[in-house]
Amino acid sequence: MTQTPNTPLGQYLDAAKTPISPELNRLILAMAASCAELSDIIGTSSLNNLQGALEQENVQGEVQKKLDVLSNELFIQPERWHGTVAGIASEEMDTLVPVDADGDYLLIFDPVDGSSNLDVNGTVGTIFSILDAPKAGDLSEADFLRPGTEQVAGGYVLYGPETLMVVTFGQGVAVFGYHRHKNEWLLIRDQVQIPATTREFAINMSNHRHWDAPVQRYIDECVAGKDGARGKDFNMRWLASMVGDVHRIITRGGIFMYPTDRRESGKNGKLRVLYEANPIAFLIEQAGGAAVNGPERILSQTPQKLHQRTGVILGSREEVERVQAYYTEA
Ligand code: AHG
Ligand code: MN
Ligand code: MN
Ligand code: MN
Repeated sequence: MTQTPNTPLGQYLDAAKTPISPELNRLILAMAASCAELSDIIGTSSLNNLQGALEQENVQGEVQKKLDVLSNELFIQPERWHGTVAGIASEEMDTLVPVDADGDYLLIFDPVDGSSNLDVNGTVGTIFSILDAPKAGDLSEADFLRPGTEQVAGGYVLYGPETLMVVTFGQGVAVFGYHRHKNEWLLIRDQVQIPATTREFAINMSNHRHWDAPVQRYIDECVAGKDGARGKDFNMRWLASMVGDVHRIITRGGIFMYPTDRRESGKNGKLRVLYEANPIAFLIEQAGGAAVNGPERILSQTPQKLHQRTGVILGSREEVERVQAYYTEA
């Protein structure tokens, strides 16, 4: 059921049609509070000498920004989760970090998505995914390697002109705004639905020569415009922050693509299954869109490794299904 704008986040969680457990309720409120804290840190980072990169790489082989590490350290503070989290996995850590043995949930996140935008004051975000923790026994990586269909919650916080949280528990998608003066998250939109068609695509065009043929075909048709096979003109956007591009799609439709490609470095895709593709695919599907790796549904994949990568094509359902058909026809 659709809740009214300006409903505070806590009240929204309490009124969920299918009850949300008190522990998950507490976990989401803690995530919101942590991201509000990070929003303030990012918003004053140049003034506090928190910009720039460190002389170290993460498990992805990426040079870490100061804020990649600082945000990760903020999120892994155990007391922050009030006993609700059994373990954490993050883009910025090689392996899992146990938190509370009695925690009901596993928390997986990308603490700063779009890090390359930090030094140029571009859009960045935090992406999070929540799974049920195993009932007993010591935590292992295997407990995190579950298909995206098993997520109990997924979402992102976008640090843009506004700080917004977009979240789903499998009961539709809600958008909350962080009211900095009141230190409160208030409902902006509930039961978001993405338009099934679009004239707007998001892809890093500089990789064109490396793409699989189905992606080259789809994009070339978009670029050919109304005189081409699609019979209509398209627009392009690319923010270099998945959260920023996805929020545009949540807001007005579109298709976002980071496909696998023919390079050794691109054959599994760039984006990571557990803390980018899965939570975003959960949101997109809950908002009536589609999310595939090319030929298959993203949420049905069972990852074999914590930092496994995947192709990502998601957004307006009819456009994603067209690309998927080009893969299966190929
Ligand atoms: P992250 O900053 O967490 O490593 O993620 C960056 C990702 C994603 O946010 C974005 O869509 C993509 O990388 C941009 O890739 P390019 O820089 O190759 O365009
Ligand atoms: Mn990164
Ligand atoms: Mn990311
Ligand atoms: Mn990141």
